[in-house]
Amino acid sequence: MKVMPIVGVRPQIIKAAPVIHALMEDPEIEVQFIHSGQHYDYEMSKVFFENFNLPEPTQNLEVGSGSHAWQTANMMIKMEEAIDKMKPDIVVVFGDANTTLAGALVTAKKHVKTGHVEAGLRSYDTSMPEEVNRVLVDHCASILFCPTKTATSNLQKENISENVFLVGDTMADVLNQNKEAINKSQILEKLQIDRDDYAVLTMHRQENVDDLNRLREIVNALTSMTEIKIIFPVHPRTEKNLKNTELGDKLAEAFHITMIKPLNYRDMLKLIKESRLVLTDSGGIQKEAFLLSVPCITLRDNTEWVETVQSKANRLVGANRELITSETRKILADKGAKNRVGKIESPFGDGRASERIKDIVKESTSSG
Ligand code: UD1
Repeated sequence: MKVMPIVGVRPQIIKAAPVIHALMEDPEIEVQFIHSGQHYDYEMSKVFFENFNLPEPTQNLEVGSGSHAWQTANMMIKMEEAIDKMKPDIVVVFGDANTTLAGALVTAKKHVKTGHVEAGLRSYDTSMPEEVNRVLVDHCASILFCPTKTATSNLQKENISENVFLVGDTMADVLNQNKEAINKSQILEKLQIDRDDYAVLTMHRQENVDDLNRLREIVNALTSMTEIKIIFPVHPRTEKNLKNTELGDKLAEAFHITMIKPLNYRDMLKLIKESRLVLTDSGGIQKEAFLLSVPCITLRDNTEWVETVQSKANRLVGANRELITSETRKILADKGAKNRVGKIESPFGDGRASERIKDIVKESTSSG
């Protein structure tokens, strides 16, 4: 049987890696692996192929950047050609990016089965392009792989109950499989920082970095918190937007903030693991902070990972300067914060989601 996983952006490569390996290890499965080319910088794509020992994609569609419509439409045209040529039995898409939407729409219309990994997540904020993508993908995919119980009940509320499987989160799989490599990372030495003596910051969401008012609020909060070192691997979208304003210089001039290039998986996870706290607007990093017992402050008004907020491992602060600083300072004053996060039961499964996904994919195609 032929299985076609489709990836295109950094977090998809990470989420897909254990699934692709599980598929490749099965002698009855031929993997035809498509990269849309939505992310193309070495640090945003190729480095993760090296980290996870992934084969070169069967085809890279090299779509690159553009408006949402342009990007999605071009991916759809090229994906249709790839599907016509390779004739997969099932296509597997991941997460909530434009690559996910393009893959799901093309396969649904060609009557090819589609599996959606990370199905059922909702922020209920349709101003986020990712939310629009998720909802549409879940409504046209034929198999839904949910990472959490909340995700399955979100689908139920939308009357999606057939072919819904609670498998766990493949990001927990990746983390388990890379524990040793993460521990070996020398990133703290390289950056000359000490364990528990810094915070990690990431931001790249369109609603934060494309909105100058929100970006300014966040930057003002960060530059005012001189009591904690902040390590900031900068996403290309954010870098472009910071360069266009005075905010880039403001961050660069702050003595306690270190801006660096995006990191590889091992270095990033080690940096999170040894940090005092994480500030982020990423979905994946909220989970990774949780899984590594690190308190998280989320620079968004809502989250798909509600369990992390309910258990108080994660706090939503939006782009509110006061809230960002006050919640950060609360965590800094609380010596037991990491310990407490470490004691919370994980809602993200047992680290064997990829194996289950592979089994269900196989079963679904053999049953026609
Ligand atoms: C995309 C996903 C988001 C995911 C994120 C992870 C959508 C709608 N959003 O957002 O869900 O969390 O990826 O990073 O699909 N760029 C580069 N080099 C690269 C990649 C991008 O310079 O390797 C620049 C492009 O010029 C582009 C900008 O970054 O203008 C944004 O890239 P884009 O693909 O639109 O989405 P992300 O913001 O990365």
